[in-house]
Amino acid sequence: MRGKHILVTAGPTHEPIDPVRVIANRSSGRQGFAIAAAAADAGARVTLIAGPVTLATPSGVSRIDVETAEQMARAVFAALPADAAVLVAAVADWRVEPSASKLKKGGGPPQLHFLPTRDILAELGASDLRPRLLVGFAAETENVVEQAVAKRQAKRADWIVANDVSGDVMGGARNQVHLITADGVQDWPEGTKEEVARRLVARIAEALG
Ligand code: CTP
Repeated sequence: MRGKHILVTAGPTHEPIDPVRVIANRSSGRQGFAIAAAAADAGARVTLIAGPVTLATPSGVSRIDVETAEQMARAVFAALPADAAVLVAAVADWRVEPSASKLKKGGGPPQLHFLPTRDILAELGASDLRPRLLVGFAAETENVVEQAVAKRQAKRADWIVANDVSGDVMGGARNQVHLITADGVQDWPEGTKEEVARRLVARIAEALG
């Protein structure tokens, strides 16, 4: 993949509620970091846009740390153009207008007013700067393949890597995924997140030619 620029998002986002609290999720960033590492090993120039995680930067990878969905969206568009984008991050779908001061318990249960975040994958899918190969992930707990097939079309992605996160995949070391492309669905064998990453990067290298 020498000469190719691969953009990867990974990890959760944190959406602030007040100066000390956030809305978060269980994503560890491991699968996305493994993909960034495998792409760098394959010779690509890799930009990794990471939400708040506790992982070391893979060697040869250029990393940008962000917290919120809005910051992640800006960092992604600032990093373009790219030959391929692999959006692995578990981006929050909702944010709130954060309170400037800490919410106090005495004030009673907080009334959180949720606002939608930017959908980075859908925005990239519709963008003039769309990478040649756009790969999304779909973490589902039911009807995994059906929902991922619908997501591929709705977000105009080329591929969706779908996984069932009803077990301990989030934060775990192993993963079992389905690769959904325009040609159909491939069920990949269960493996470590590094094995899944190497397989996906090999497919990306093949597709980019
Ligand atoms: N994604 C994104 N920006 C968002 C939400 C999701 O870029 N604001 C990307 C993810 O990185 C992933 C894909 O879209 O590649 C699917 O994310 P997922 O959370 O499964 O899909 P949602 O659109 O949030 O749908 P739902 O939560 O209803 O399953």
